[in-house]
Amino acid sequence: MLQGMMNKNLSTQLLDWYNQHGRKLPWRVKGGAHPDPYVILVSELMLQQTTVKTVIPYFQRFMKRFPTIKDLAAATEEEVYLHWQGLGYYSRARSLHATAKIITETFGGRFPDTRKDVLKLKGIGPYTVASFLALAFNQPETVVDGNVIRIICRLYHLTSPTTEIMDDIRRRAEALTNRAHPADYASAIMDLGATICTPKKPQCLLCPWQNGCLSAGSPDVEHIPDRNKPAKQERTGSVYLIHNRAGNIFIRKKNDKGLLSGLYEFPWTDNENLPLPVTGKDTGRSISHIFTHFKLTLKIYTCQTEKAPFPDGIFAAPETLSAYPFSTLMKKVYQTAKELIK
Ligand code: ADE
Repeated sequence: MLQGMMNKNLSTQLLDWYNQHGRKLPWRVKGGAHPDPYVILVSELMLQQTTVKTVIPYFQRFMKRFPTIKDLAAATEEEVYLHWQGLGYYSRARSLHATAKIITETFGGRFPDTRKDVLKLKGIGPYTVASFLALAFNQPETVVDGNVIRIICRLYHLTSPTTEIMDDIRRRAEALTNRAHPADYASAIMDLGATICTPKKPQCLLCPWQNGCLSAGSPDVEHIPDRNKPAKQERTGSVYLIHNRAGNIFIRKKNDKGLLSGLYEFPWTDNENLPLPVTGKDTGRSISHIFTHFKLTLKIYTCQTEKAPFPDGIFAAPETLSAYPFSTLMKKVYQTAKELIK
């Protein structure tokens, strides 16, 4: 009973704070469900693994080009990738495109609004299903992402490794969720994590929960939660800028199911094997890129040949490269060594 009242107070305090200090974001409405679930679908997929600041310009360009689910379903995969390039985690773009087709073809253009049906869409797992139903349909679902985990661990001073106490974290997060205003509550707790209860230097003095929080202002607050993270693995590979006498560069579309599939690339590997049976010229230049689970360094080689080294690629003139979707990794490679190709 007492705990229930305390939870109600906490959730009301958070909503009051949100009404005054919540961020204005291009995909957000205050006061309930978003009138257009498509807006929530696109933004939630973009926001998986990517920060709000990075997402905003991508979201705006994407919505301008594909203003409705129908426009997206009718687009080619290549065009969807072009609007996603640089955002990373490209399987999200493929999932979003597939989802647009499922909604237009299987659901007759109507967005599903039950957990069971939303899980039939692509790229929407247990986290996104909750945020989608809360934000698009104002359903009393509880979002449990990295921000929420951090907030709950600090609020209740839970110091065990998070992987060992996920059920407890989830139960506490559910108990706090405001059932009368789930959409605003979901946005509010995301904002609290992004602007106040940040991983480093949390602003406890500005926090609407400072009085109920068992960690507020304490010296160990930055060390909660215990993430128990293994160090990122490091890998070294190579990438080949293959060009012909005319200065055109060999590119090909990556069609496997792995990392960066669907985008164009210069032949590369993420290990000591070379992507070609010949050794190219070592440019002495390299780039590094951080993926979720490892850090990759690619040594850059050049190689001149008149014959395409693989049947599934083409030689493209440098001024045409912007018409092809490339990952940030490949763009970095090209920017780092393009003047070496003559
Ligand atoms: N992270 C995930 N979804 C979000 C949203 N709708 N607003 C802000 N940050 C988010």
